[in-house]
Amino acid sequence: MSMQRKKVTTRTLQKWKLAKEPIAMITAYDFPSAKMAEQAGADIILVGDSLGMVVLGYDSTIPVTLDDMIHHTKAVTRGVSRAMVITDLPFMVAHLSKDEVLRAGARIMQEARAYGVKLEGGSEVLENVKALTTAGIPVMAHLGLTPQSVNQLGGYLIQGKDAKSAERILTEAKRLEEAGAFALVLECVPEELARVITESLDIPVIGIGAGRFCDGQVLVFHDILQMGGERIPSFVKTYAQVGKTMVDAIQAYVQDVKQRRFPEEKHVTHWSETMSVVYGVSEGK
Ligand code: KIV
Repeated sequence: MSMQRKKVTTRTLQKWKLAKEPIAMITAYDFPSAKMAEQAGADIILVGDSLGMVVLGYDSTIPVTLDDMIHHTKAVTRGVSRAMVITDLPFMVAHLSKDEVLRAGARIMQEARAYGVKLEGGSEVLENVKALTTAGIPVMAHLGLTPQSVNQLGGYLIQGKDAKSAERILTEAKRLEEAGAFALVLECVPEELARVITESLDIPVIGIGAGRFCDGQVLVFHDILQMGGERIPSFVKTYAQVGKTMVDAIQAYVQDVKQRRFPEEKHVTHWSETMSVVYGVSEGK
């Protein structure tokens, strides 16, 4: 775990890329999860639009709105002082006009106090990446499996397996770097492609399902903790069964209430003797 207590900035990440110091990124969606990620030493906290699936109960990230992202980012930034907080631009926003994407980026930084934004896509979003970075809005790019395009891709499938698509992803990664992106998330690609891209770029590459040779790794909070999700992707390492622990605890509470085992004497306050006499109740009745 990195012991640095200074705020993580784009310069810090650049330094770590050169020093080959791994970058640990995790998602968070509210005040308690952000505080836990920060206490655990995460370098980057992503308010991912995966919140649509793990927190809001949608079946994809597509229904998530800019207002949803701002609402959740506000809670996250209140729990963080050191880590860099990055917020996803939700479905379609990165493809809107330059003015609209700038306004979205500004809201994320001014209202929600994020450090910068992440957006999915390659050539089709390059002009907006340039506009955002020129305006002072740090951009983390996202290539490979881009979940906002799940309908277009036909499912959550590994990308870059053949020469043509691998070459396209490599070219787009270089273009995004040229356009000013300060980092790149690479999702669900073969480890070899992720390695070539990581070695070809000067900016840090953060992998998810992209093997061992990226500059950093990102996973979803609820996946690491097995908290709620029935289907955990094969590239995830789980570190606890928090979901089961929570259900067991809630079940014990429900049973205690049903069996009148809760509250106990230590959980209650009492009237004075006089009040009890006036109302005709005595302790325990
Ligand atoms: O939305 C998200 O959580 C993400 C990560 C999985 C990279 O984009």
